[in-house]
Amino acid sequence: MISSDLILDSDLDDIIGGLPREVESLAGKRILIAGGAGFLGRYFLAIFKRLNEEVLASPCKLSILDNFRVADKALVGDIGEWGELLHADICRDELPEGPFDWVIHAAGIASPYYYRAYPLETLEVATVGTERLLRAAQAASARFIYFSSSEIYGDPDPAHVPTKESYRGNVSTLGPRACYDEGKRVGETYCYIFHDYFGVHTNIIRPFNVYGPGMQRSDYRVMPNFAAQIAADKPLMIYGDGRQTRTFCFVADAMIGFMRVLLKGVPGETYNIGNPNPEVSMNELADAFERVSPVPVRTQTTEYPDSYPADEPMRRCPDIRKAELQLGFEPKIGLDEGVNRFLTWAIPRYQAELG
Ligand SMILES: NC(=O)c1ccc[n+]([C@@H]2O[C@H](COP(=O)([O-])OP(=O)(O)OC[C@H]3O[C@@H](n4cnc5c(N)ncnc54)[C@H](O)[C@@H]3O)[C@@H](O)[C@H]2O)c1
Repeated sequence: MISSDLILDSDLDDIIGGLPREVESLAGKRILIAGGAGFLGRYFLAIFKRLNEEVLASPCKLSILDNFRVADKALVGDIGEWGELLHADICRDELPEGPFDWVIHAAGIASPYYYRAYPLETLEVATVGTERLLRAAQAASARFIYFSSSEIYGDPDPAHVPTKESYRGNVSTLGPRACYDEGKRVGETYCYIFHDYFGVHTNIIRPFNVYGPGMQRSDYRVMPNFAAQIAADKPLMIYGDGRQTRTFCFVADAMIGFMRVLLKGVPGETYNIGNPNPEVSMNELADAFERVSPVPVRTQTTEYPDSYPADEPMRRCPDIRKAELQLGFEPKIGLDEGVNRFLTWAIPRYQAELG
C-alpha cells in the first residue's frame, strides 16, 4: 500500500470530495500509469486505491510502471490486490499489452536539476516514450492522458500572461532547457497526430508548478528546496534577482483537475491545470515561507548554480478558464495555506533525513 507517510489522508479526503459523479465510471476499469513512482504518479495510485476501497462498485486494476530514474521503488510500496508494479523504461522495454481503458503518461524528468543532468533521457521520455505509449493506447483502444508542461510556453510575451492554451509559446530549440521544453512540445505533437489521424482519445495536461506533501528533498524544485533549507536551518537561496514569477498549485487542487481531465476531458483537448492566484516572484514566495514557517526564516540571493539550467522564463501564470468551463475545475487552496500544509509535512521528514 502507499505509504501514508507520503500522502496525507486529509489531502486525499479533499481530492475524493472534489471528484465529479463520473468517477463511478472507473468501476472495473484497467489503468496504466507510466511514471507511477513519481510525485504525481503516487497520488494517482493513492486516489485509485481509495476509490477502490470506498467508492467503486467494483475495483479498478492498476499497472504502475517506472524505470526508477528519479524515484525510489520503496516510495511506491506494495500495491497488493489492486494491480502490479513494473520496472520498465517506456523508451525501450516491452510495455504491458493491456487491455487498458486509460493510459496515463506521467513519466518524465521534471526537475530542472535532473534535466540538466540527463538531457538525452529527458528528450527521449517525452518523444520516443510518448509515441510508444500512444501506440499501446491505440492497440488497447484506451484513452490517453499526457503530462506535458507549462514550460511549452517558454518565456511568454507579457501580453499573453495569464497564458491561454492557444498561445503558441516563445521557446528556444537550443540551450539547457530545450531538452525539456522541446521534448514536451514534440510529445504534444504525437498526441495531436494520434488523435487526429488515428482516432485515439487523447488529452494533454499542462501543469503549472504543482507542489505538496510527497515531494522528496532530493527533488530540487523550488518548493522542496526552500523547505529543505528551513529544515537544515539555512537561508532560503533565491537564484538571480528573485523577480522571476510563478504560480503554485497545491497538489490536492491539481489532482482534482487532473482527475477531471481523465473523466471529462473533451477528446483531443489540452488543459492548463494550475492556480492563477497569486502570481508571485521568488522573493514574494520566500515572504510566504517566512509568514507561515514555524521557525525563523532568512533569505539570501545568489548566482544561479551550475546545476540549474540558465534562461529561465521570467513569468508563468495560467489562464484556466477552459478547464473551469469544460471540467468545472476550480482551485481552492491559497498560497499561504498550501505552503503551511506542505511545511507541516516536509520539515519533520526532511529533518529526520538530515539526522
Ligand atoms: N509536478 C509538476 O509541477 C509538473 C509540472 C509540469 C509538468 N509535470 C510533468 O508531469 C509528469 C509527472 O511529474 P512529477 O512531478 O510526478 O515528476 P517526477 O519526477 O516526480 O516523476 C516522474 C517519474 O517518471 C519516471 N521516469 C522517467 N523516465 C522514465 C522512463 N523512461 N520510463 C519510465 N519511467 C520514467 C521517473 O523515475 C519518475 O518516477 C512529468 O512528465 C512532468 O514533466 C509536472
